[in-house]
Amino acid sequence: MPERAFVCWGAGGHAQVIAELMARNGDRLVALVDGAVVQSFMDGVPLLRDAQALDIWLQARGEGPVLSAAVAIGRCGPDRMQSLQWLRARGMEAPALCHPLASISPSSTLGMGSQVLAFALVAAQARVGDACILNHKASVDHECVLEEGVHLAPGATLCGCVHIGKNVFVGAGAVVMPRLHVGENAVIGAGAVVTRNVPAGATVAGNPARAV
Ligand SMILES: CC(C)(COP(=O)(O)OP(=O)(O)OC[C@H]1O[C@@H](n2cnc3c(N)ncnc32)[C@H](O)[C@@H]1OP(=O)(O)O)[C@@H](O)C(=O)NCCC(=O)NCCS
Repeated sequence: MPERAFVCWGAGGHAQVIAELMARNGDRLVALVDGAVVQSFMDGVPLLRDAQALDIWLQARGEGPVLSAAVAIGRCGPDRMQSLQWLRARGMEAPALCHPLASISPSSTLGMGSQVLAFALVAAQARVGDACILNHKASVDHECVLEEGVHLAPGATLCGCVHIGKNVFVGAGAVVMPRLHVGENAVIGAGAVVTRNVPAGATVAGNPARAV
């Protein structure tokens, strides 16, 4: 695959992971955007403060090969999807980014701008929506459906046929039992064992998981 040039929205810890993934895949990071970080973590890659600064940078760049977009915002909520849409509106592509050590079933689908990190697993017939993060060692078993903007933190496990709503955050090491539904914007605490459906907007934790 020819080298792709990425603009990455977010320049914190998750962005550093994504930058190494890009390098490993033979891609190139060309700009970072983040108002909350003081310094670029990569020599030669400019840190732009906000959308306006990125627009100026894009204008100065002029015509050139189409850029690719990545969003490295780990926190829950709609920010990741909104930032991805903003970058898409400026003509950027938003390919899914997959670590070579992730296991991804050929019968599964990955939405635009989703990220599958090292040792994560996506099993047969799973459907992963746009702008999702499947963090290190996260596991999405057969026929699961993840709507847009979901973040599975490191080691989170979805058993088969689980449905995860929009913008849900599943904490590190949590387990969601088979065939359950997790409503949109819910938060599942680290280490939780989810044995029942979770309503939209709820925060649950513990084993068995209860509202906190
Ligand atoms: C569940 C969670 C979202 C709650 O956060 P919060 O609303 O700030 O809650 P607090 O830290 O104020 O804790 C509220 C209560 O829930 C308990 N609690 C918090 N997280 C818990 C967890 N994961 N499991 C069990 N109990 C938990 C706290 O001990 C506290 O109990 P107390 O009132 O008896 O003292 C958060 O603790 C969590 O687990 N986040 C996931 C972190 C993670 O996986 N990060 C990965 C980044 S990639």
